[in-house]
Amino acid sequence: MTDNNDEETGDVLETEKAIRWLDGVDIQTGIITQEDHPLEGVSMAGKTLIMPKSAGSTVGTYRLFALIKNRKAPKKIVLKEYDAITLPAILFGVEVEITRTCKKNERGVYVDEADVLGLPSEFLDYLKKEAELAGSERLVPVTSAQISGVSYKTITDAGLDFIQSFVEKGYKVRVLTTLNPAGMDFDEWETMGVPENFAVKQKRIAKAFLKLGVTPTFTCTPYLCGNVPMFGDHIAWAESSAVIFANSVLGARTEREGSAKSLIAAICGLTSMCGAHLMENRIPTHIINLDFMPKTLNEYSLIGMFIGEKFGSGQQRCTPYLRFKSKKLTLDQLKALGAGLATSGSISVYHVENVTPEAKTSLITPENAEETFKCSKEEIKAIMKKLTTTGEKPDLITLGCPHASITEISEIAETLKEKRLKIPLWVCTSKPVKEIAKRQGFERIIKRSGGLIVADTCMVVAPLEMMGYKIIGTNSSKAAHYLKSLSGLDVVIASLKELIEIAT
Ligand code: F3S
Repeated sequence: MTDNNDEETGDVLETEKAIRWLDGVDIQTGIITQEDHPLEGVSMAGKTLIMPKSAGSTVGTYRLFALIKNRKAPKKIVLKEYDAITLPAILFGVEVEITRTCKKNERGVYVDEADVLGLPSEFLDYLKKEAELAGSERLVPVTSAQISGVSYKTITDAGLDFIQSFVEKGYKVRVLTTLNPAGMDFDEWETMGVPENFAVKQKRIAKAFLKLGVTPTFTCTPYLCGNVPMFGDHIAWAESSAVIFANSVLGARTEREGSAKSLIAAICGLTSMCGAHLMENRIPTHIINLDFMPKTLNEYSLIGMFIGEKFGSGQQRCTPYLRFKSKKLTLDQLKALGAGLATSGSISVYHVENVTPEAKTSLITPENAEETFKCSKEEIKAIMKKLTTTGEKPDLITLGCPHASITEISEIAETLKEKRLKIPLWVCTSKPVKEIAKRQGFERIIKRSGGLIVADTCMVVAPLEMMGYKIIGTNSSKAAHYLKSLSGLDVVIASLKELIEIAT
């Protein structure tokens, strides 16, 4: 698996701000397009790139592969921290170094022979190399995997070829492995208006995953659909909002595995014991006091976005320890908060005092956290203003980022009761949750008002820009961010109630 980058310049690019592979670099030119990045407008092609680590989506690996394929990638990447999203570049001949490693084990990487019997040597070699670069002591068996990089829109042909190459070699996953949303609802893609040529590629991707033995959940909330790790379990998950949920709310242990790395880990049933697998990287680094109690999911997601942006994309690993005024946070609130944190920074674990499981144990105390910060309504308003790109009315309202739970859908149905929508509305969720919503009568209410429950996909990974939409309304900071930066669409961000008022 090698493909050399021939545009060598010998130049060195150094930055203290993480780069976003998915939506921060033009894959055709290698130019950094990330807004507000000190290297915005500079090409990385053929250079040595020194950066803390990548930020944002774990699907970024496939964008990096596309850059390599287009001969616009850096020839060498020097990371300051372990980064499973960037490291697979070594599979295609890019040199990668990590300067700040975990505790070095002089004996090399420990592998239990029983765990590696019959594994493809190319992957075992890759995992060992990655672990070695990260200074990891060993490879660790995982109980499950969650694969990101499923939509044709985000992975393009570079990702499809990569997955297809695994099928051709006859590989199968060794552990329960679930899938992120695809680019369309497999039953309703024609009703949604998804172009046929896109649907053909998307079906090819789904078929390839099925041949690998992956469970076709097509959701970013696998923990609501049967992939539920136990406290302390080591897992290899890639979807950034699911990673942070598993680490923080369930107390399982996973690094932000990149899209390609999670597939390799699923086939091997192993991953490198570094990053958030190690207790040393789960200790709080920043204490954040909330001086108001958020009321809506929209506010929780904006708080996450603010903290991630302020502390999570710099030189140091950031594990926030949050103090809310109430101890009663719901699954949906924690889900919205985590998705925001993981989008703007490269945060994989957070703790909420008296709420999340590790914060209730003696394992986690904020004593060594460097500083204490305050997050007030003003900061949230500023982030909201930044994410809103137009004063015009949306032409599509989208809810369910991360995928809506049954409680969110019941609230949406309640808010829509007796109303008639003048703007189309999508509620994004998984197939199993949609089925429950159907049985409880929520789907009927949403449909009667003119809305649609869309499964298997979401507003970000569906090709909305190819379907004629221009302005999207959402209550999620993560969706707002990617709708602009990845799809080039205008965004109106507001709470569920405000969006429904706009739409009726
Ligand atoms: Fe999930 Fe799509 Fe949001 S994958 S977290 S609904 S961007």
